[in-house]
Amino acid sequence: MHNEIEKVLISEEEIQQKCKDMGARLSEEYKDRFPLAIGVLKGATPFMTDLLKRMETHLEMDFMDVSSYHGGMESSGEVKIVKDLDTKVEGRDILIIEDIIDSGRTLAYLVDLFKYRKANSIKIVTLLDKPTGRNADVKADVVGFEVPDEFVVGYGLDYQEKYRNLPYVGVLKPEVYGG
Ligand code: PRP
Ligand code: MN
Ligand code: MG
Repeated sequence: MHNEIEKVLISEEEIQQKCKDMGARLSEEYKDRFPLAIGVLKGATPFMTDLLKRMETHLEMDFMDVSSYHGGMESSGEVKIVKDLDTKVEGRDILIIEDIIDSGRTLAYLVDLFKYRKANSIKIVTLLDKPTGRNADVKADVVGFEVPDEFVVGYGLDYQEKYRNLPYVGVLKPEVYGG
């Protein structure tokens, strides 16, 4: 699998250090509160587990699956709920956890949804931000790394459901998706 990667953009060590730093910052921000941490399936799961281990506050975990990419390389534009939360949002301090913000449509949709459900507060933490892809008006409160306009995989990010289990973020060799 590693021989299908052209280059490593963000190493395992850099990711782990960033989780530590972001965890410390979020621990401070949510001190004495009981946030509801919502991971956006499936991509956010490796980041979510590593980040939350670094948070020193009580928190509740839940998951939501909304999809917009449908396995290809371009976003289709539509967002739909595949799996909803088990937890009530009303009055809660919501921390949305994402692997990447690209067009911003997934998060714009979720922020609207949680506002409609009367969250007390909503924050977004994302490992990666690709500002060049932005289409919807959404900004993360905490960003790990900015990435260039390249198709990145690993650490949750897939190409046709593969590569999510890489411990780093990298770029695929063109021949892998070239046919
Ligand atoms: C990817 C990624 C983000 C979203 C970002 O998820 O994990 O959730 O797209 O794109 P956007 O900012 O343009 O909305 P995807 O829908 O591919 O599902 P997955 O996490 O299961 O791979
Ligand atoms: Mn996702
Ligand atoms: Mg995907």
